Amino acid sequence: MTTFAELGLSPKLLRALEKTTMQTPTPIQAQAIPHIMKGADLMGLAQTGTGKTAAFGLPLLHRLLDIGHPPAPRRVRALILAPTRELVNQIAENFMTFTKGTAVKVTMVVGGASLFKQAERLARGTDVLVATPGRLIDLIERGDVSLEDTGYLVLDEADQMLDMGFIHSLRKIAKHISVKRQTLLFSATMPKDIEELASTYLRNPIKVQVAPPGKPIEKIVQGVHYIPNGDKAKLLETYLKTHEGEQALVFGRTKHGSEKLYKLLLSWGFKAGSIHGNKSQNQRDKTLAEFREGTMQVLVATDVAARGIDIPGVRHVYNYDMPNVPENYVHRIGRTARAGAEGTAVAFCAPAEMGELQAVEKLLKKIIPVIGGAPWSADAVAAAPKPVQGRGQRPSSAPRSAKPQGAKPFAAKPHGAKPRTAAAKPAVSAPAAARPAAAPRRAEGAGGKLSRGPQRWTS
Ligand SMILES: Nc1ncnc2c1ncn2[C@@H]1O[C@H](COP(=O)(O)OP(=O)(O)OP(=O)(O)O)[C@@H](O)[C@H]1O
Ligand SMILES: [Mg+2]
Repeated sequence: MTTFAELGLSPKLLRALEKTTMQTPTPIQAQAIPHIMKGADLMGLAQTGTGKTAAFGLPLLHRLLDIGHPPAPRRVRALILAPTRELVNQIAENFMTFTKGTAVKVTMVVGGASLFKQAERLARGTDVLVATPGRLIDLIERGDVSLEDTGYLVLDEADQMLDMGFIHSLRKIAKHISVKRQTLLFSATMPKDIEELASTYLRNPIKVQVAPPGKPIEKIVQGVHYIPNGDKAKLLETYLKTHEGEQALVFGRTKHGSEKLYKLLLSWGFKAGSIHGNKSQNQRDKTLAEFREGTMQVLVATDVAARGIDIPGVRHVYNYDMPNVPENYVHRIGRTARAGAEGTAVAFCAPAEMGELQAVEKLLKKIIPVIGGAPWSADAVAAAPKPVQGRGQRPSSAPRSAKPQGAKPFAAKPHGAKPRTAAAKPAVSAPAAARPAAAPRRAEGAGGKLSRGPQRWTS
């Protein structure tokens, strides 16, 4: 097995790594680091929680450590863009762990925090700048920072840069960086339209792919529970009580819906928190810190927490609402079972969400086992109101995502050769308390296979 030393990383980085739990490189690290150290442009695809941050971070820092003199005022040597403030924070913290005791300077800028203070920090220049695109543009336009000396550009969660808003920001930012730069794209999902982004921003990129695109990490035990919208909250309560003391992340579609659900869970006595775009940055930071520390059991979030966030204690992910971009399912459930840990993911699917579920299963190239209820009939789907759209839509220039997934016509039979219910041998099961309500529908499809006890969840 390759070691970090064999990859040729600077002794300073090796010493920093010794103080962490990172003893041997993960496959994406072993495969991507040598190319990046040589200066190649690269697209790195690897499953959630498999160490992509260090896969781009370590070789970048290795190259920066060689420079030996500080950056010029307001200049940035390496720019890392990430879609959310929380992820920027986390990447910057990771980098600071690796650079402890070195002269390499790491700075972060995000929206929702003081622009003035960020400008002040940038005045002396920085080796690494981790940023959300919007705030970076503000700082560039004010003249607080220049990307003239920037030789490295990393897009973490690269495929999210295709989303509405980000792609325009990326175009604006890229104009300021020399074309001679080294550019790196990383994500756990790489939909086909990423090729367009890659051909625009990368030169002869090397593709490192350690798993098929869109493949969730095997350790996540997945299940789908067919449930009408009105019954979802009670079902969630049952799941949370069955797994009391284990941390859960619950994904809602909208800010408003997530906040309502969080308040309901609070009123039911759960130690809960919520993160979404309507919360102040202070509130978001405080909530995430409490969840990270483990003092909070349940975090209700929109897709703002779907990507990149690394909280090792998360044992369960509930897709309370199905995501409207199928790739986000892979990212959402990837908040559990990270770095070899165990985890379960349950999708709550209402009649109006059959289209989203099908899109997810098409991406996964597999049917998610049924653990409660049975697939909705075409009549039930036709009668259901269309779901409200949340984050994550792509611009109409992106062909595959121009139409919201929820608007897809429902095909009575799922894609693939086998009918959903025949393939639905559950690897996980619904909590006992949730089963009676599901029983009548279960008879239609998944049969007695759903009757296993909740102990399977804690395996
Ligand atoms: N070589 C390693 N050995 C052990 N643990 C590691 C190693 N590399 C990274 N980790 C740990 O694995 C966890 C996940 O890493 P990271 O957040 O970089 O994953 P990721 O691939 O970027 O996931 P995502 O797709 O969700 O963003 C972190 O807690 C990190 O410290
Ligand atoms: Mg990541």
